[in-house]
Amino acid sequence: MENRPQWGTRAGFILAAIGSAVGLGNIWRFPAVAYENGGGAFFIPYLFALLTAGIPLLIMEFTIGHKYRGSSPLSLARMNKKWEWLGWWQVAVSFVISTYYAGIIAWSGSYAFFSFGEKWGKDPEGFFFGNYLKLAETPGDIGGIVPGVFWPMVLVWGVTFFVLLKGVKKGIEVASKIMIPTLIVLFLIIVIRALTLDGAAQGLDAFFKPNWDTIADPKVWVAAYGQIFFSLSIGFAIMITYSSYLPEKTDLTNSAFITGFANSGFELLAGIGVFAALGFMANQANVPVSEVVAGGVGLAFVVFPRIISEFPAFNGFFGFAFFTCLVLAGLTSLISIVETYVAGVQEKFNISRTKAVLVGGGLSALLSILIATRGGLYFLDAADYFINQFGVALAGLVEVIAVVWVMKELKNLQNHTNEISDVSVGTWWRFSLGIITPVVLGYMMVQNLVTNIKENYEGYPTSFLLYSGWGVAVAAIIIGIVLAAIKWDKDITIS
Ligand code: PHE
Ligand code: NA
Repeated sequence: MENRPQWGTRAGFILAAIGSAVGLGNIWRFPAVAYENGGGAFFIPYLFALLTAGIPLLIMEFTIGHKYRGSSPLSLARMNKKWEWLGWWQVAVSFVISTYYAGIIAWSGSYAFFSFGEKWGKDPEGFFFGNYLKLAETPGDIGGIVPGVFWPMVLVWGVTFFVLLKGVKKGIEVASKIMIPTLIVLFLIIVIRALTLDGAAQGLDAFFKPNWDTIADPKVWVAAYGQIFFSLSIGFAIMITYSSYLPEKTDLTNSAFITGFANSGFELLAGIGVFAALGFMANQANVPVSEVVAGGVGLAFVVFPRIISEFPAFNGFFGFAFFTCLVLAGLTSLISIVETYVAGVQEKFNISRTKAVLVGGGLSALLSILIATRGGLYFLDAADYFINQFGVALAGLVEVIAVVWVMKELKNLQNHTNEISDVSVGTWWRFSLGIITPVVLGYMMVQNLVTNIKENYEGYPTSFLLYSGWGVAVAAIIIGIVLAAIKWDKDITIS
C-alpha cells in the first residue's frame, strides 16, 4: 500500500514497542515468578531466555514487519501464501486477550479512586470479590452486569478508540510518548517510597536470595522462557504490526535490544518495588515474607490495598499512583493488541482505518461485556490461562518453526536486518531461533498439554473449561484458518 502510516520518529516507535511490552506482566507476574523459581538464581535462566529467545525473536518479528510492510497476516501472506493463517491465528489470539485485558484495566481504574478513603475498608478480599466484582458462586454462571465494572470498562474502551482513531503517529505514538514517561516517573516514586519503608530490606532479601537447587530443574527454565515470551509481547502479531510502520532506513537490531532491555529493566524495578512493599507488610504483621507473597489479581487487588492501608502517610496518593501505573501499563498494551486486528482487517478488506477501528474494536468491546458480569472473573481466568499457553506460546512456536524450517526464510531476514542495522546478527541469532527456541518451547508445550489433560486448571469443572478454556484456544485457530480462506481485496498486492 502506497500511503502506509508511519511513525514520526524511531524513538516514538521504540516507546510504543516498550508500551506494548511493559504491561501487567511486568508488575504483577514477574516478581512472583522470579521468587517462586529460585529468587536471585532465577536471573541466570531469565537472562539466558532473554538472549536466546526474547531478543532474537523480537529482531525476527521487527524484520518481518519491516521487510513485508504489513500486519501479521499480510506480512506472512507475502512471505508465503500458505502461512497467512498463522497471522490470523495470532490476530485472533490478540482479539481474545483484548476482551478481558480491558476488564483488568477497568478494575485498576476503579481502585485508583477507591484508594482515597480506602474504600476496601478492613477486608480488601471480601470487598474485591464481594462488594466490587459481586462474583457469582459457580464458574460459568453469568448472573447479570455489574455497573461498577461496566462503566469504567466503557471508559477504557473510549480512550482506546480515541487513540486508535487518531492513527499510528498522532494516536499510538503520541499516547505512548505521554503514558510511558508518566508511568516510569510514577513507578519510580512508588519504588523509592517502598524502599524506605520498615521491613523493605527483608523483602529484598527474600526476593534476591538465590536458591541454587532450582537451577537444574527444567521447570525453572520453562518458567523463564514463558515469562520472557509473554513479557515481550512476541507471538502476538503486535511487534510485526508495529515494525511495519517504520521508515525504510531503521536500525532494527538495535531497536530490539533497547525494547528488550527496557522491558526487563522495568521488570526488575517492579520486583524490587513489590518485594520492598511485601517486606513492609510482613514486618507490620510480624510474619515471614514468604507468607505474604502473591502475584496476579490477588497481589494487585487484595494484597496491595492492605499494604496501602498500612502506609504511614499519604495512603491515598500512593494507592492512586500504584493503580494509575497499572492503568497506564495496561492501556498501552491494550492499544497494541487492538492495533493488530485493526491493521489486519483494514488491509484484508481494504477499508478505512476508522471503519476497521469501529468494527474490530467494537466487536471486542461488545464481547468484553461478559467480563463485566458477575461471572466475569472466571471467564477471564480460564481464557487468560488457555490463550497464553495454547495461543500465544503455541503460535510463537509454530511461527519460528515455519519461518526457519519450513519457509527457510531466516537467511533472507538476516540479510535484510543486517543491511540496515549497525550490529549484524549471525550465528548466535540463527542458532537461537533455529534450535534453542523451538526445543525449549516445544518441550514447554508438551509439558503443558500433559499437565492440562491430566488435571483441570484451578479445579474448574470440565464442561466450563471446554468452552472458556480449550474452546477459546481452538476457536482462535479455526478463525485464523477461516479468515485466511477469504480473498484479499483486489487492490492489495500480496506478492
Ligand atoms: N507484554 C505484556 C506484559 O508484560 C503482555 C501483553 C501485551 C498482553 C500486550 C497483551 C497484550 O504484561
Ligand atoms: Na512485559
